[in-house]
Amino acid sequence: MENAHRTVADHTPTASFADQFRRARALSEALAAPLSDADATIQSMEDASPAKWHLAHTTWFFETFLLRDRLAGYTLYDEQFPFLFNSYYEAEGARIARFSRGMLSRPTLDDVLGYRRAVSEAMEPLLDRADCADLIALGIAHEQQHQELLLTDIKHALFQNPLGPAMFAPVVRARQAQAAGWFEHPGGIALIGHDGDGFAFDNEAPRHRVLLEPFALSRGLITNRDWQAFIDDGGYRNAVLWLSDGWAWVQGEGIEAPLYWHGEEQFTHAGWQVRDPDAPVTHISYFEADAFASWAGHRLPTEFEWEAIAAAGDPAEGDQVDQAAPILPRATTSLFGSCWQWTRSAYLPYPRFRPAEGAVGEYNGKFMSGQFVLKGASCATARGHSRASYRNFFYPHQRWQFTGLRLAKDI
Ligand code: AVJ
Ligand code: FE
Repeated sequence: MENAHRTVADHTPTASFADQFRRARALSEALAAPLSDADATIQSMEDASPAKWHLAHTTWFFETFLLRDRLAGYTLYDEQFPFLFNSYYEAEGARIARFSRGMLSRPTLDDVLGYRRAVSEAMEPLLDRADCADLIALGIAHEQQHQELLLTDIKHALFQNPLGPAMFAPVVRARQAQAAGWFEHPGGIALIGHDGDGFAFDNEAPRHRVLLEPFALSRGLITNRDWQAFIDDGGYRNAVLWLSDGWAWVQGEGIEAPLYWHGEEQFTHAGWQVRDPDAPVTHISYFEADAFASWAGHRLPTEFEWEAIAAAGDPAEGDQVDQAAPILPRATTSLFGSCWQWTRSAYLPYPRFRPAEGAVGEYNGKFMSGQFVLKGASCATARGHSRASYRNFFYPHQRWQFTGLRLAKDI
């Protein structure tokens, strides 16, 4: 598995468009390679999807928006698949309920892999067509988002199994300690959003001005050791630290630690492992991140503060997929990698935002309600996928992604 991982996925920035497509398709298959049909079929909660469904849905995306709409004479691989593998596109018609994705014992994993091969092959004549480039770039970025979801969803599914199964062999990796200190910013007008160079999602545009007050952003991510200190100090029992909705969530769910923590261990893609106190904390909700920041006497950054520092700094990516199997987070000095970082910015449209025409206009815009923006990239994010203007988003109670935090303060 690790070999497959390395050979298909080494990031080559100069790769042609067609190569990027083939690599993205191959990486999804490599990530699912350790899974049995049963592993790939189960769905552990409504937020998560079966690995098999991710493999098929990303294929449906290319088949629908490229092959069906742009390749003359194309006939659908299977007329029933759009009903099974359309995620949420109202403009594309009816689909199975989200929670029923785990009921699909058929098509089998082999059937889905056959669907993937057929669609990937049929895509070949479109790969150098200029009128398809924007949609293919979207399809590749979409495939990468589902690679991350496949990893986080299968982790959650395997976690339900009392045997604590491992998907990858444990990998021993060096871990850099998190950098100490703060990045300082004098404030002023910052240009926020994608600059138009290369692919970006529609929610990263338009680029616009934002006024920042002087602030500082912590160079390091909060670690498991930091989090243990918060727990030991009664952080989960002190209502004063919590947002009202967060306190209701902690009490209602009986939350006492990050997801996947048990004793000195945490559940990983390599099964149960002793936690590294110096690794960044992961699998925390927005509510927990906010409470921790209050406890530390600081606050979460806004998405604009984070982006202003990232855009000015080292663009190097950190600990991400395709260097090694995404098993345990490892620290780097980059703002990217290891974990997505909660910001206190609501996920809202930028001024003058317009979703794309047609069904793909449903991609991001319709989710701009009740969620928070996360910045960076995680150890389950494909290398090359994220950038300073990238806006990930989740609801404040969700924590099955590799989510963590860095602090901000006013200066
Ligand atoms: C950006 C990760 C919140 O999970 O729905 C996948 C990614 N968008 N297919 C999601 C996505 C369309 C999206 N997140
Ligand atoms: Fe999708």
